[in-house]
Amino acid sequence: MLRKLFSQLGTGSREFSNRDQSTVFHYHSVTKHRFEGYARSLGYLDWETQPDPFRRFYGAELLPLKFMHPDDAPPYSAIFGYSQILPEKVSINSVSKFFELSLALSAWKEIYSTRWSLRINPSSGNLHPTEGYLLIGSMEDGSLARSPKVCHYQPSVHALEVRAEFSEQVWQELMKPFPEGSFLVGLSSIHWREAWKYGERAFRYCQHDTGHAIAAIRFAAATLGWSLVVLEDLSDDEVAALLGISRSADFKDAEPEHPDLIALVVPKKIDIDIPLSLSKEAILDIEKANWQGKANRLSPENIDWEIIGQVAEACRKPKTDSGLRSAVVDSRRLSALDLALASNSQLSSSQIIKQRRSAVNFDAMTEISAKDLYRILSAVVPAESKSELAPPWDAVVWPTSVHLCLFVHRIVELLPGLYILLRDSRKLDQVKAAMRPDLLWQKPPECPEDLPLYFLMEGNCQQLAKQVSCWQDIAADGVFSLGMVAEFEDSIDKYGSWYYRRLFWETGMIGQVLYLEAEAIGIRSTGIGCFFDDPVHEIFGFEGWKFQSLYHFTMGKPVEDTRLTTLPAYSEELKRNRV
Ligand SMILES: Cc1cc2nc3c(=O)[nH]c(=O)nc-3n(C[C@H](O)[C@H](O)[C@H](O)COP(=O)(O)O)c2cc1C
Repeated sequence: MLRKLFSQLGTGSREFSNRDQSTVFHYHSVTKHRFEGYARSLGYLDWETQPDPFRRFYGAELLPLKFMHPDDAPPYSAIFGYSQILPEKVSINSVSKFFELSLALSAWKEIYSTRWSLRINPSSGNLHPTEGYLLIGSMEDGSLARSPKVCHYQPSVHALEVRAEFSEQVWQELMKPFPEGSFLVGLSSIHWREAWKYGERAFRYCQHDTGHAIAAIRFAAATLGWSLVVLEDLSDDEVAALLGISRSADFKDAEPEHPDLIALVVPKKIDIDIPLSLSKEAILDIEKANWQGKANRLSPENIDWEIIGQVAEACRKPKTDSGLRSAVVDSRRLSALDLALASNSQLSSSQIIKQRRSAVNFDAMTEISAKDLYRILSAVVPAESKSELAPPWDAVVWPTSVHLCLFVHRIVELLPGLYILLRDSRKLDQVKAAMRPDLLWQKPPECPEDLPLYFLMEGNCQQLAKQVSCWQDIAADGVFSLGMVAEFEDSIDKYGSWYYRRLFWETGMIGQVLYLEAEAIGIRSTGIGCFFDDPVHEIFGFEGWKFQSLYHFTMGKPVEDTRLTTLPAYSEELKRNRV
């Protein structure tokens, strides 16, 4: 029988089927920014407790990775049809490249005597809560792993910290259902890193960052001709056991890591149906392996934002049974991609991936063509058939639940105003019914037939976009900005409270595609986590909990901050011995 829990503060008259669901809605409600006040945070930066951006495992053996030759990567356009890329053999070189193009440092910035590093994967406030792991079997040449291992990726020196070693027999049992040469990559989040600056809303930002990281590892795999798919049916407990982050003895004073996911990497196109979980017995064996290293403490003191612990617990993922991931028949994107492919096909994927940055200012005048807009938007629409998905959408098995509400400012052939991109055209009636009735729903001129983009209302919406994005100029001064609106209530009702995190991950993946697509046409993006939630809903007429805007984004011609100096990600000295 359904246990009905009645609404808590700010969740309206909704009833909940269990306490976890009520916790998630409560969390989402109280962490909304409102015109009357921002979500709870310290309100200032306590530099004394600024978290160390790098997690280290003291006492763990360090395996240095190689550095790639900058030209040794396929063209950017090829990674969306990755099966055209000849797969590289799994070796120390290719695994090094995989990390260098996904979770490594991308540069250092310096002003006066202050220096900070940037990474390939973006992060709210550059705080980087996402940690990366590798689980890999022994290699023929013994170059990286003589025995199967669990390693933590250390971006500060582009190296692996060996956390555990275990037998070949256990590895074989773990990887039995998968093609030869496959390995695993894990992600976890340290919530404190974001909470230090953003307080209670930080849990949301950690999830965005996980989504960005999923797309980043998917694209890096694609540059090597490899497939990557999230093993969706694992429980959080299983992920934690495999990554060694539930080992309290190794995390005594250290800020905990929360399990996110394990993804399977197959060094070719997946041509068989694969399960989305791992052998329970093998997981237990790895848990009992010989673990080394103690996690470092990131800050001398932490503030316990209680609600973050509560929501994290309420969306802990149980084991699920979504069945198999079928082999991908062919990779394709919408025809809009073909329109502009020729002009971008020569840019290298590593160049685009490594040069990705967030803009801090736009010039408020540059325009882009409608053709470029259609191309960019086509990259975030997964094909309707799961068997035809292109990266990064082939990495996940979730249904498409997030749509883009656009504030169009400077697109040459298009009227400025409000637009919507339905990332799944089958949702047209459902989304339309949830929005205000006076919208136009017209296809813009020359818009490709298979791109579900609609013109809703004409008008200069620069001020509006800025106002709802916490008064940030970047939302008004670019070519467009947008709110990512998720099918919120139905998704959580259908799958459970743990699905809350998946919705944010989907938005982060969209963000990563937009970041790269902007670079590909010579402009720049910025993710926007700070926005006023309900005023955004009001503009488009969304009421109640059916749809919620979870992440904002903007794109335009950047104006560089000339006071900053940019330095290389890794010193020549470090690289010298690692080629
Ligand atoms: C989830 C997320 C939210 C962000 N929110 C904002 C924002 O509200 N305003 C802003 O100026 N930048 C925002 N950013 C940009 C980050 O500050 C930027 O990614 C970070 O400083 C790292 O710099 P990089 O992207 O150049 O590597 C956001 C980025 C992410 C990933």
